[in-house]
Amino acid sequence: MKKQIYDLVIKDGRVIDPALGFGHVAHLFIKDGKIAKIENDNISSRKKIDSMPDENVIDAAGKIVMPGLIDMHVHLREPGREDEETIVSGCQAAAAGGFTTVCCMPNTDPAIDNQETVKFVLSRAELADARVYVVGAVSKMLKGEELSEIGDLVKAGAVAISDDGGYVQNPQLMRNALEYASMFNIPIISHAEDDFLCKDGVMNESFQSTRLGMKGRPAVGEVIAVLRDIKLCELVGGRLHIAHVSTAGAVEAIRLAKADCVDVTAEVCPQHFCLTDDMIGEKFDTNLRVNPPIRTKADIDAIIKGLVDGTIDCIASDHAPHAEEEKDVEFDQAPPGMIGLQTTVGLVKTYLIDKGYLSWADAIRKMTQNPARILNLPVGTLKVDSPADITIIDSDKKWTVKKNDFRSKSKNSPFVGWKLSGKVSHTILGGRVVYDGK
Ligand code: DOR
Repeated sequence: MKKQIYDLVIKDGRVIDPALGFGHVAHLFIKDGKIAKIENDNISSRKKIDSMPDENVIDAAGKIVMPGLIDMHVHLREPGREDEETIVSGCQAAAAGGFTTVCCMPNTDPAIDNQETVKFVLSRAELADARVYVVGAVSKMLKGEELSEIGDLVKAGAVAISDDGGYVQNPQLMRNALEYASMFNIPIISHAEDDFLCKDGVMNESFQSTRLGMKGRPAVGEVIAVLRDIKLCELVGGRLHIAHVSTAGAVEAIRLAKADCVDVTAEVCPQHFCLTDDMIGEKFDTNLRVNPPIRTKADIDAIIKGLVDGTIDCIASDHAPHAEEEKDVEFDQAPPGMIGLQTTVGLVKTYLIDKGYLSWADAIRKMTQNPARILNLPVGTLKVDSPADITIIDSDKKWTVKKNDFRSKSKNSPFVGWKLSGKVSHTILGGRVVYDGK
């Protein structure tokens, strides 16, 4: 009988952890749900591995081993729309997509604007295949009128606040929210699209929207909203995080604010670095309808520049499940949103890494260390004694996105049929294998 000191070992993978500044082939040992050690290949580490039963050894030769990825922007739809997604199904999709941590937005029904709902979500997440952190609402019932009890939300476990899905249109409310949130050192996540400019728009305002006769959401609606929030943050302090940046103007505004030492961070989503508004007229695929909308090649170029120079800190999916029958309507009648948990890694690899814009270390940093820092999460690193949350990626594996492979209850992805490179091979949550590529 072989002696078992460790519960699991991941051998021979290229281990990349930006938080540790680590990036070479090594073995990762796991014990009691935590990282026990990372060891270079040598006689002693080989002996340890050889002493382990085969079923407790994952061979990661030729693959990349990284801290479990964090998706700081998902919609899990529970409570309220369990037909579209539940916390359990959303976390299964997360596991299959390489995410061990997700942060869920409060636009549920009822909204996550009070302690009881935060606790409900956290209790539902206890046995799920990913860690769930909750983003509470800025305003009661997301109406943009009255502040939620931010202190109560934080006490119950909220790690940020946001009225995502809509902009906090009232600047006084946003100012108060920034002030309150700063007392708890949590960020406000802003869905920055000015209602007056964007309401009723269904796609980017452009030549394409005119051609298709659709009401547009102008880029300036995002830029103005971002600038206002930056100015409020500069005035009262607090931490501002701009969700799903989609325009060149917003990237530039964030870049300048950072240079002025405003405490602002930002994320982008795959749809805003690999889809353009001219794709809408091809088939009127309602899965291309999303807020903020997909934009132009010039916006993509600016977003990529922002990712490369660090203006954009994070990559998130904005996983937004919608029922098939609700998307199966005219383009302008469909609800905005697309799922993304299982396609983000492949799109990052294919459109950012393979094209030479980001290294694996850069991309991993934007999906581990940076979101963990912004949200004060105790994950996102392989440091010894951290939770053994690990993602293993078969970096060059080519695959085709298939509807049947989605673990989400909803299938609203415009990427079905796309050929991508970079596939999740294993996802490990607290030492437990929650996805093994099957
Ligand atoms: O397209 C979107 N859908 N954008 C959002 O901000 C909200 C999301 C949703 O909840 O469906």
